[in-house]
Amino acid sequence: MNTISMLLKSMLFMGIIAGLLVLDLPTNLFQTSNQVSAQDSLGSSSPANSTAMAPSKPGSSVRPPASQKWGVNATVPSNIIPQDSSTTVWGKIRLGARGSVSIPNKDAGLLVQSGGETWRQYRMGPLVSYSGWIILAVIVLLTVFYFVRGRMKISAGPSKNKVERFKLLDRITHWMTAIPFCVLALTGLNLIYGRDLLLPIIGPEAFTAVTVAGKYMHNFMGFAFIIGIVLMIILWARHNLLDKYDLGWIKAAGGMLSDKVHPPAKKFNFGQKIIFWLVVLVGASLSYSGISLMFPFEFSPFQGTFAFINNFGSNLPTNLEPIHEMQLTQSWHAILSVAMIAVIIAHIYIGSVGMEGAIDAMWDGEVDENWAREHHAAWVAELKGEPEPKPYKGTFKSPESHVAHE
Ligand code: HEM
Repeated sequence: MNTISMLLKSMLFMGIIAGLLVLDLPTNLFQTSNQVSAQDSLGSSSPANSTAMAPSKPGSSVRPPASQKWGVNATVPSNIIPQDSSTTVWGKIRLGARGSVSIPNKDAGLLVQSGGETWRQYRMGPLVSYSGWIILAVIVLLTVFYFVRGRMKISAGPSKNKVERFKLLDRITHWMTAIPFCVLALTGLNLIYGRDLLLPIIGPEAFTAVTVAGKYMHNFMGFAFIIGIVLMIILWARHNLLDKYDLGWIKAAGGMLSDKVHPPAKKFNFGQKIIFWLVVLVGASLSYSGISLMFPFEFSPFQGTFAFINNFGSNLPTNLEPIHEMQLTQSWHAILSVAMIAVIIAHIYIGSVGMEGAIDAMWDGEVDENWAREHHAAWVAELKGEPEPKPYKGTFKSPESHVAHE
């Protein structure tokens, strides 16, 4: 009889416990004095929030500890497991707490980095949509410009004379930068848009081959691009310093809006100077961020940059996790490349279909003399020992005829 009543009592006791658990009673009911609640330890973030991503159904593969599911601290005897086994452990891990590991890769001590999710959302969302719209907008604007303005002609018509504009080394340098850049741009865009645009057209096998080949080309072409930029700096930087003709060129909108307006310029006009410095500065930053991505975790470009920027009053984080550095580097690399692709599309337009006679400069190195006088009068005057022209004083639609034609 005694045994039966004891059995009934224990069943009742267990039933009450189970009932309390199912009814989700307050956490502190089960909290002993030496246990710290997850809420206390995590400040403003509740344990419920901290496990918002984890599936809570029993039987799921990543089940949170019972303590978090039911809001009760785990009751692991502290004399058996000496570590802190309270709920705060999971909460802290979810919020990016770093543990220690004995393997050489110390970064493995970081199990969850919430910034990764933020980065993934940016990578799959705004990066894809904004980049696409920017590139598309540039193409549409140039197309509209072409149909409204037409091809920029040599106003005086082609001359019989040619002027040497770029030597062989200049042209090699240009194409050594341009060809790799185009390959880098296409293989890079494939990484963002390939799955949506190319895969449905060419199928998975061809797409895999193209993407793998593209990845290797992207890595190797980067070095040719870097060499090209270094050579460009050596050969052209001195021609791209500001001079007295730039203001007139800006006021005339480069003569792009009227066939009759020809602001004089030296070897490079103001527009070309902008392109040059963008290529050099953005290209350098693209190269550095690209190398950082190629050799993961070897560089920490943002930590130092943020520390430097903080000298001017900002409060950017300077203690970045290596994985956070990689995420920022990827974002920066992508933003810069889209900006540079947009600018280079405009450059390609002007250098080819947009302007009669321009491509000759980079093709055989010689340009039509009338073209040279209309676009680079000060440079031609210097070349031929003629008096230098005055800076342009008119507007973008009222010409000043100080351009001498033969
Ligand atoms: C692939 C198509 C391209 C074409 C048809 C093209 C055409 C040209 C032409 C005709 C010039 C000489 C302009 C003059 O005589 O004043 C030039 C110059 C230049 N190109 Fe390109 N280019 C191309 C791609 C690129 C790329 C991809 C880059 C850089 C990533 C680049 C960077 C430059 C720079 C910095 C200059 C000197 C400044 C200027 O003229 O704007 N080019 N290009």
